[in-house]
Amino acid sequence: MGVKSLKLALVAVLATGLDACQRERKIHNHSHVKRALTQRAPLTADERLIISSFDNNSISDWSYYYTHGLHLAGRNESQAQWTADRWSEAGIPSTRLDTYNVFLDYPINKSMIMTYANGSVFTPALVEDVLPEDDTSSYPNRIPTFHGYSFSGAASGEFVYIGRGQQVDFDALVSAGVDLEGKIAISRYGGPFRGLKVKNAQAHGMVGAILFTDPADDGNVTVANGYAAYPDGPARNPTSVQRGSVQFLSTYPGDPTTPGYPSIGNNVSRADKSAVVPQIPSIPISLLDAQPILAALDGHGTPGRQVDRPTEDWVGGLNATYSTGPSTAVIDMSNYMQDDYTDIWNAIGVINGTSADETVIIGNHRDAWIIGGAADPNSGTAIIVELGRTLGKLLATGWQPRRNIVLCSWDAEEYGLVGSTEWVEQYIPWISGTVVSYLNIDVGASGPHPGISATPELHEISIEMMKKVMWMGMNQTMYDVWMDDTEGEVGVLGSGSDYTAFLHNGIASIDMGSDPDPVEHRDPIYHYHSNYDSYHWMSTYGDPGFLTHKSMGQYLTLLAYHIASEPSLPLNVLNYADQMDLYYTDLQEVISEANRSVDTSELRQAIDTFRTQAQEAQALEQQAMSMGDEALLEVVNRKKRDFQRGFVSQGGLPGREFYKHVVFAPGLDTGYAPVTFPGITEQIEAGDFDLAEQWVERTAAAIRVAGNILRT
Ligand SMILES: *[C@@H]1O[C@H](CO)[C@@H](O)[C@H](O)[C@H]1NC(C)=O
Ligand SMILES: *[C@@H]1O[C@H](CO)[C@@H](O)[C@H](O)[C@H]1NC(C)=O
Ligand SMILES: *[C@@H]1O[C@H](CO)[C@@H](O)[C@H](O)[C@H]1NC(C)=O
Ligand SMILES: *[C@@H]1O[C@H](CO)[C@@H](O)[C@H](O)[C@H]1NC(C)=O
Ligand SMILES: *[C@@H]1O[C@H](CO)[C@@H](O)[C@H](O)[C@H]1NC(C)=O
Ligand SMILES: *[C@@H]1O[C@H](CO)[C@@H](O)[C@H](O)[C@H]1NC(C)=O
Ligand SMILES: *[C@@H]1O[C@H](CO)[C@@H](O)[C@H](O)[C@H]1NC(C)=O
Ligand SMILES: *[C@@H]1O[C@H](CO)[C@@H](O)[C@H](O)[C@H]1NC(C)=O
Ligand SMILES: *[C@@H]1O[C@H](CO)[C@@H](O)[C@H](O)[C@H]1NC(C)=O
Ligand SMILES: *[C@@H]1O[C@H](CO)[C@@H](O)[C@H](O)[C@H]1NC(C)=O
Ligand SMILES: *[C@@H]1O[C@H](CO)[C@@H](O)[C@H](O)[C@H]1NC(C)=O
Ligand SMILES: [Zn+2]
Repeated sequence: MGVKSLKLALVAVLATGLDACQRERKIHNHSHVKRALTQRAPLTADERLIISSFDNNSISDWSYYYTHGLHLAGRNESQAQWTADRWSEAGIPSTRLDTYNVFLDYPINKSMIMTYANGSVFTPALVEDVLPEDDTSSYPNRIPTFHGYSFSGAASGEFVYIGRGQQVDFDALVSAGVDLEGKIAISRYGGPFRGLKVKNAQAHGMVGAILFTDPADDGNVTVANGYAAYPDGPARNPTSVQRGSVQFLSTYPGDPTTPGYPSIGNNVSRADKSAVVPQIPSIPISLLDAQPILAALDGHGTPGRQVDRPTEDWVGGLNATYSTGPSTAVIDMSNYMQDDYTDIWNAIGVINGTSADETVIIGNHRDAWIIGGAADPNSGTAIIVELGRTLGKLLATGWQPRRNIVLCSWDAEEYGLVGSTEWVEQYIPWISGTVVSYLNIDVGASGPHPGISATPELHEISIEMMKKVMWMGMNQTMYDVWMDDTEGEVGVLGSGSDYTAFLHNGIASIDMGSDPDPVEHRDPIYHYHSNYDSYHWMSTYGDPGFLTHKSMGQYLTLLAYHIASEPSLPLNVLNYADQMDLYYTDLQEVISEANRSVDTSELRQAIDTFRTQAQEAQALEQQAMSMGDEALLEVVNRKKRDFQRGFVSQGGLPGREFYKHVVFAPGLDTGYAPVTFPGITEQIEAGDFDLAEQWVERTAAAIRVAGNILRT
């Protein structure tokens, strides 16, 4: 899917103004005094080999391969095998395909027609234009515009505009007295995960949902501002449509029919999936198709600027007043899907380390909603093929990593993180027993601004590695570029990509990518989940020269190399205490906004004790290093590997057992964006103070378990 989110923080965020795919970031004031540039950190021979091994021409070849054949989830085993073959050819000692039989659905047909009160009709096109310049936009087997895991059925009725479709949008509609029962929802993309828009509409008795792309979310780079539309320029092609899954991601990801266990074998038991997939039909449309539908609401219900929601969430850029409705016009829509139990294939490559019980996993998904997928996900895929080649070259020099390295090319991420979740469910004992970190790259390159989100113990090493990479052939390190954009802010993991199942089993995780400028919107529009996320777009606008791919690949490989090789596992456990202090401060704000007192002293104490134990672990590490005591070093490395498992030791969050981490989770009503101390925070926000206090205890208990693992 390709979403990396920064924690919603104290300064203004632009989050909701963006496409759901895009990184949520603080608005940083670029007019502050420029930082002095840093010199590239010195490189060792192995690091020089890694840097020089990355070749933008071969990366472009890999990208071309993946983006010129259908590779919708479960539809292209040969791409999985090809990936494994490239790794074998590079010298990765062992490769294989791991197969699962999962529930997926595929589009059959759909229709939509709007009938005005006077009897005239408008029929939306529901297709993206074929562009002569963009070869894959005309492939005969190109994939229709549709929603994965959408409901088969028809709906008819008046319609209501629901903003971004979050619970707060529905609160605003209810307080404006808008009748929702039996109506069709029309929602703007952006903000929460799209499945939650459909979920909320369904929960309010609505019978169908239409999701559209709003030009306001493109910022400055619009046709109205004088930019030409793709393929002639960097602005959005007006026919582009965002496909995507409508699974209820924040309840649980993975095969919806096998919650908590792997989809293996012909006789696996299949659970009822109705709690995690919609029971009303939904269809995605372009801004061009949306214009007449939105305009048909003008003069009906409450005008957009009077709705009790911030403008950037409610009133968009179409020529309409964004009135609530209900309309007098009526929409008839239908959406038919083929339900299927089908095989999916994860390509796996393994390099054994010298220490059998420590493992680093590097993952990227391979499946795309379209023939292309040049950014999502195959920028990351091209990078991990080149990464495999680079590790092969290191092995050829006689290098063997201390820790096992496992490369994973996931299938069916787009429907709901299916390939990675089933794999984690299959191998969980071994994963819990050996994995020190999971490194994820999804949309590796959709623009020139790098960003990372990670669990706290990975912050330091992740930032240090940026100092070793020159960014896109410029005389500037990745670190300098990243600092200018983010002022050093590492994001908090929510959900939206394959790190999710790892994180919620207590594995240190990072997600990385490079995106268009999220603040000033100066970069070409990335056509997320559209036919125009193609090789042609990438090589013309997204990353001409494939230099972002190259820099991101060097970065990921250096990070993997260090985590796999350094004698002392480069995880900074003390930063977990520092970050939890910040989340604790945020929690106090949530509590004060709720005007209730919640006793969090047990949590406070648990964090303070954790800090002491982390300091002891660090002292022990220094002792092991200075004495060259390998046995002691191993003891400390095990503590660093294992302490995070403590955070998932208390069972799942209320109503969503899959999400077990007590420090971070995707928001129940955001899906992508994270909440910290979610058990406590979400119960306070829901007004359930008894449960919130129980979650203070459980959160504190988990932190104590983590701290006790670190303790000397
Ligand atoms: C940005 O920083 C400059 C220089 O410090 C300051 O004058 C300006 O008011 C700041 N702008 C905002 C929006 O904070
Ligand atoms: C590159 O940047 C470094 C400082 O980071 C500077 O010393 C050097 O002169 C620069 N080289 C060029 C060609 O601009
Ligand atoms: C799988 O992908 C490859 C490369 O993109 C393509 O050549 C092949 O036709 C695809 N297979 C199917 C069944 O579409
Ligand atoms: C769409 O597919 C459904 C289910 O297969 C079928 O009943 C219906 O006739 C089809 N409609 C059209 C217009 O092809
Ligand atoms: C019917 O109403 C729509 C929307 O107001 C308008 O565009 C259309 O021209 C009208 N058709 C007729 C025949 O009056
Ligand atoms: C299939 O599963 C059912 C119930 O889970 C079990 O009773 C049955 O023995 C299984 N059959 C085979 C062939 O494994
Ligand atoms: C916006 O719509 C109104 C009527 O609904 C029309 O008069 C006006 O010309 C439109 N503006 C643009 C820029 O298309
Ligand atoms: C890697 O280690 C595993 C488990 O120790 C072993 O079964 C396997 O044969 C090893 N692979 C290679 C290529 O040495
Ligand atoms: C983009 O728009 C913002 C305001 O929305 C403005 O401050 C900024 O200067 C614009 N940037 C460009 C490059 O047009
Ligand atoms: C690779 O980079 C070089 C130098 O920047 C450039 O000339 C070349 O066109 C790039 N290759 C591709 C396939 O874009
Ligand atoms: C808390 O109190 C403030 C000030 O009295 C009020 O504005 C706010 O709405 C209250 N919040 C809640 C959640 O009751
Ligand atoms: Zn993706």
